[in-house]
Amino acid sequence: MPAAANRVFNFSAGPATMPVPVLEETREALLSLGDSGIGVLEHSHRGKAFLKEYQEAVSLIREVGGVPDDYEVLFLQGGASLQFAMVPMNYLAKDATADYLVTGSWSEKAVKEAKLFGNVHSVCSSKDKNFNYIPTERKYSDKPAYVHFTSNNTIFGTQFQTEPETPGDAFLVCDASSDIFSRPLDVSKRGIVYAGAQKNLGPSGVTLVLIRKDLIGRGKGDLSAMLKYSTFAENESMYNTPPTFGIYVVKLVVKWIKEQGGLKAMHERNLAKATKLYKYLDHSQLFKATVTDPNSRSLMNVTFVTGDDEQDAKFIKFATGKGLDGLKGHRSVGGMRASIYNAFPQEGVDVLVAAMREFEANA
Ligand SMILES: Cc1ncc(COP(=O)(O)O)c(C=O)c1O
Repeated sequence: MPAAANRVFNFSAGPATMPVPVLEETREALLSLGDSGIGVLEHSHRGKAFLKEYQEAVSLIREVGGVPDDYEVLFLQGGASLQFAMVPMNYLAKDATADYLVTGSWSEKAVKEAKLFGNVHSVCSSKDKNFNYIPTERKYSDKPAYVHFTSNNTIFGTQFQTEPETPGDAFLVCDASSDIFSRPLDVSKRGIVYAGAQKNLGPSGVTLVLIRKDLIGRGKGDLSAMLKYSTFAENESMYNTPPTFGIYVVKLVVKWIKEQGGLKAMHERNLAKATKLYKYLDHSQLFKATVTDPNSRSLMNVTFVTGDDEQDAKFIKFATGKGLDGLKGHRSVGGMRASIYNAFPQEGVDVLVAAMREFEANA
C-alpha cells in the first residue's frame, strides 16, 4: 500500500514529520512484528522479539551517533522536561552550583527545576533580545558541578554551532531535543545528552539519554528508583515497562538515518534546506527572518515574520491552502516557524519558498 495520498507538508515543531518508510514499516509491525504473529504493541518487553528490537536500537544509536563504549544508551519516559529535573536531582548538591546557558524558554525551564535542588549560575542569556541570538560572551562560576546548554532552541530558531567550553572538571549536559542526530555530534565532549524523541527520532513518549558511565555511580543515592540514572543503566532501561513502541520506532528512524548516509549526510541535507529558506528570507521585501546572525541560525527551526500580525495570519491561511501545515510560530515569537527536521523533505521547502514568493508578489 502506498503512503496516504492526502499527506501534506507538515512543519510542526514536534511531534513532527516522520520518514514515510518508517511509517510504512511501523504500519506492518502493528499487526505482526516480523513473522511473530504478534503486533509490536502487544509484545512483552521481556520477550525475545522485543529484546531483539531493543538491542538493535541501542547498537544502531551507538553506530550512527558515534556513541563511545564508555557511555550508556538509555530510554526513559517523562520527556526532556523530566531531564530538566533529573539532572540536578542526581548531580547538584544543595550547596553546589550548576552553570546554565540561558538561550530560550526551554533552558529557562531547566533553570527553574535546577533551582529546586541547588544554586544556579547564568553563564549568559539572550533574553534581552527575545532569545534571537546565541551569546558569545560567557562567564562561568568558579567550580560548577556541570554546565547545561540547549543545543537548538526550538521556539526561537537559534542553534549552537559548537558546544560551549566547561571550566575545571565540570561535565557538559546537552538538551538536544530538537537537533539530536541532525548533524555529526561529538558525544565524548558531553557527560549527558538527552532528547525527547518527538522531533528527530520518533514518537513522543520516549526520551533518549546518552550518559557517561562514570557519572552513573556519582548520582545521589537517596532518590526514588525511577529518578536515578543508575536504575535504568543497571536494568537495560527495563526496570519497569519501557516505552516499547517508542523504542521500536526510534530504531527504525535511526536505521533510516543510517541508510541515508548517517549524520554527515543528514547535516548536508539539513543545511541545504535551511540555506534555501534563509536565502529567500534575506532577499525578501516582505518576510524577515527573526534570527539575523548567521552563527546563531538554526537549521531545524526557521522563524520568520512579516512584521504585521494580520499579514502573518493571511500568509498562514494562504500556505495551508497550498498543503503547508503547522507554520504558525510559537506565541512568544509570533509570525511563522518552519520546523524542518531530518525527515522533512526538500520538496516541502521548495513549495514553501514558492508560496512565499507568490504571496509576496500579490501583497
Ligand atoms: C529544546 C527542547 N527541550 C525540551 C523540550 C520539552 O520536551 P518534552 O515535551 O519531551 O518534555 C522541548 C519540546 O519541544 C524542546 O524543544
